[in-house]
Amino acid sequence: MKHLSSYFTFATAIALFFSYEPPSQDTPEKFVQCLNNYPNISNSISDVLYTQSNSAYSSVLNVTIQNLRYLNTIPKPQVIVTPLDVSHIQATIICAQRHGLQIRTRSGGHDYEGLSYVAESPFVIVDLLNLREVTVDAENKTAWVQSGALLGELYYRIYEKSNTLAFPAGVCYSVGTGGHFSGGGYGVLMRKYGLAADNIVDAQLVDVNGNLLDRQAMGEDLFWAIRGGGGASFGVVVAWKIKLVPVPPTVTVFNVGRTLEENATEIFQKWQLVASKLDERIYIRVDINRVNSREDGKKTVQLNFVSLFLGGVEELLPLMQKSLPELGLERKDCTETSWIGSAVFLNAVLIGTSGHEAPEFLLNRTQIYSGFFKAKSDYVRQPIPVDGLRGLWRFLSNDEIEFTQIELAPYGGRMDEISESELPFPYRSGYIFHIHYVTIWQTAGDEAAQRHMNWIRRLYKYMEPYVSNSPRAAYVNYRDLDIGVNNNGYTSYDQASIWGIKYFGNNFKRLATVKTKVDPYNFFRNKQSIPTLSEEEI
Ligand code: FDA
Repeated sequence: MKHLSSYFTFATAIALFFSYEPPSQDTPEKFVQCLNNYPNISNSISDVLYTQSNSAYSSVLNVTIQNLRYLNTIPKPQVIVTPLDVSHIQATIICAQRHGLQIRTRSGGHDYEGLSYVAESPFVIVDLLNLREVTVDAENKTAWVQSGALLGELYYRIYEKSNTLAFPAGVCYSVGTGGHFSGGGYGVLMRKYGLAADNIVDAQLVDVNGNLLDRQAMGEDLFWAIRGGGGASFGVVVAWKIKLVPVPPTVTVFNVGRTLEENATEIFQKWQLVASKLDERIYIRVDINRVNSREDGKKTVQLNFVSLFLGGVEELLPLMQKSLPELGLERKDCTETSWIGSAVFLNAVLIGTSGHEAPEFLLNRTQIYSGFFKAKSDYVRQPIPVDGLRGLWRFLSNDEIEFTQIELAPYGGRMDEISESELPFPYRSGYIFHIHYVTIWQTAGDEAAQRHMNWIRRLYKYMEPYVSNSPRAAYVNYRDLDIGVNNNGYTSYDQASIWGIKYFGNNFKRLATVKTKVDPYNFFRNKQSIPTLSEEEI
């Protein structure tokens, strides 16, 4: 990577080249011309521009779209830029403003509501798929990760250097580090080491003026905001510097399923009491699915207890016997492996493969939720009473939907030790687990979409008495436009608070203050971007 100072000089030249003027929407040709005429840009930019007439345009656009609900939205981006270096990002940001185009930044393309590739006004996409370098410094236990790198690539590159270093981020190999770290990022190491964002020590970001800023140059407020304030509002993150965490050479994983007929309700009731209080080396997630009963083949609900333990099976079994004997965990249910082996296993649980694949499996780029989907999230502070659970099971038994999964992720451990204002992500001590509801369908068309959307909205309404309130907390990385949207990207702070407080609690105002300082004209905006404050609101 070039030294930062050369980019500062470059940015100063840009400031002289373009002064701010009110945006007017120009043709894509003028935008492309602007890129091509841009000072000090590397010549290769024309190779990474895709206009709508380019034969590769559709495949570049669609390749990382995870949610088919947003595959055919209009308008399509006027141009897609897949930068090869920082100067391409700088030029795109400046030329988009110059020609009245909005910008969408895409890393892994997993945004639940398509915010990285959908807009209502003419726009361009900066897709970071070519910026995916991961440089691991095992000696100093750090790594620089370009935003286009996916979690599977990050985990694999760490494994190439060490089998006792890891990083506490999400499970799914295909998630992009650009969006994921921006919204917090949790996974099976959360109880031991917190979120991905808790372990970021530096970053490089291109701001609205085309300046490349590192932590020192951006200052602590902006550095705070980009670690959990949700992607897209403050600039384009080029790379993250992360702190790697120690893991033992042997860890243990299991995935044990119990149906309602096999005491799942009773086991779950105990899980609710203990999962957030266990030794912080144990993480036991619960995946709830509709399945065919093993006894009579009829539909029933199954709870899968999916776990990573940072240690061997000899130590795990007595711990489980003491804390959750109801599960009846046996040695034969457990697999000892390395940390990278556990990452493979946990992805295999998601996509239904054996779990014995080689680590290269993590370099896979196939989609995990292949289909149309809608998801929502909740946080729980008190165990859900058994009556509430019975109603939840009834929702899951409903035949009107094609597929659903509810995933419950336990908090506690390290999460309890971090203050709610340390980063924009506020849900720390006092939250016992969070809920991720998702429904996925393959049938195209409005009828199927409405049926599934209505089902998940009814479920969300049903859960209201059992989950956090004031605010009813939500996870920004499980983006949900049902909880409120900005009007064409512009909304007052008060209006945006409807959704903002749910994601960020008391941190929302600070995020808006940072936004006002670093992007006062609200160039980086979308349906749920952080709003700027008016003079009265400051
Ligand atoms: P995408 O590229 O769509 O970006 C998401 C948002 O961030 C957009 O608003 C985008 O503009 C912005 N953005 C992206 N790159 C940026 C950059 N470089 N600079 C600035 N803004 C940028 N979450 C979790 O915590 N734990 C988990 O285990 C999982 N697992 C999971 C599995 C699957 C199959 C899906 C679809 C999603 C998850 N997630 C998750 C949620 C995931 O963390 C969330 O969707 C992230 O925002 C995805 O980041 P991407 O870069 O892939 O998305």
